[in-house]
Amino acid sequence: MGSKITVTQLKEMKNKSNKITALTAYDVQTARVLDSTGIEVILVGDSLGMVVMGYENTLPVTMEEMLHHARAVTRGVNRSLVVADMPFMSYQTGVNDAMINAARFMKEAGVQGVKLEGGRSILPQIRALVDAGIPVMGHLGLTPQSVHQLGGFKVQGKEDIQAERILTEALELEKAGIFALVLECIPVTLAREITRKLKIPTIGIGAGSDCDGQILVIQDLLGMDTDFKPKFVRRYANLQQVITEAVQKYIVDVKNMQFPNVDESFDTLKIDGDSPTKLYSGGGDDANL
Ligand code: KIV
Repeated sequence: MGSKITVTQLKEMKNKSNKITALTAYDVQTARVLDSTGIEVILVGDSLGMVVMGYENTLPVTMEEMLHHARAVTRGVNRSLVVADMPFMSYQTGVNDAMINAARFMKEAGVQGVKLEGGRSILPQIRALVDAGIPVMGHLGLTPQSVHQLGGFKVQGKEDIQAERILTEALELEKAGIFALVLECIPVTLAREITRKLKIPTIGIGAGSDCDGQILVIQDLLGMDTDFKPKFVRRYANLQQVITEAVQKYIVDVKNMQFPNVDESFDTLKIDGDSPTKLYSGGGDDANL
């Protein structure tokens, strides 16, 4: 096990052209597995509203839901840098709210940083958090918390005026002190330009290969939902099929009394008589064995 990844190391990785890898996690077991792979950043994304809670978008996600999952993730992580998404309206409402809520992530969940979506309008919040010693990750392009304003989950920055605004805001966010910037669903050329102009690392999702790192939602990478396949997702497994087949085998085994077998059952020492009768063999009496 190596030492904890720091925000300074991420900046060094950019300088050395070492790509940064990031994925989301929402529970301790996934976090443990990801941490053991050497991935640099684990994001407790508010995407959990969609992939864990089944909401249509991320807007309903609350601070309590985010803290609940962030606590689970940090319990499973030793090395990766853990960042938590600040949910909708936990920071847009002002500097005070942003400070109180970000502090909860740091103190109650033990994350190493928070991510906020948006540009110019949240610069005061970002400056205040950074001044207070809280590492902040920015997020521009398709910012899902603004889905209604954007008119849906659409690629951003295709037109020059929009692209220029995203570039300017990226520079403003850097000046305000963010340590990294997520660029979501923007054209490759724009992501390349931003990545070249910033000293801090960019982490892309649907923003091409020139970003300093990449992030995906873990469920998308693992193929948990075969009905959901945006253009920018690469599926590295088909867990939906693996889980379906495993559960179907379990159902058959239970119906046919093939599960549990003798080795999966516990001994009974005595049944209403004087001689101990062995009903089952194998294993111990400790359910953990
Ligand atoms: O909520 C999330 O998971 C995210 C990533 C997709 C960047 O913001």
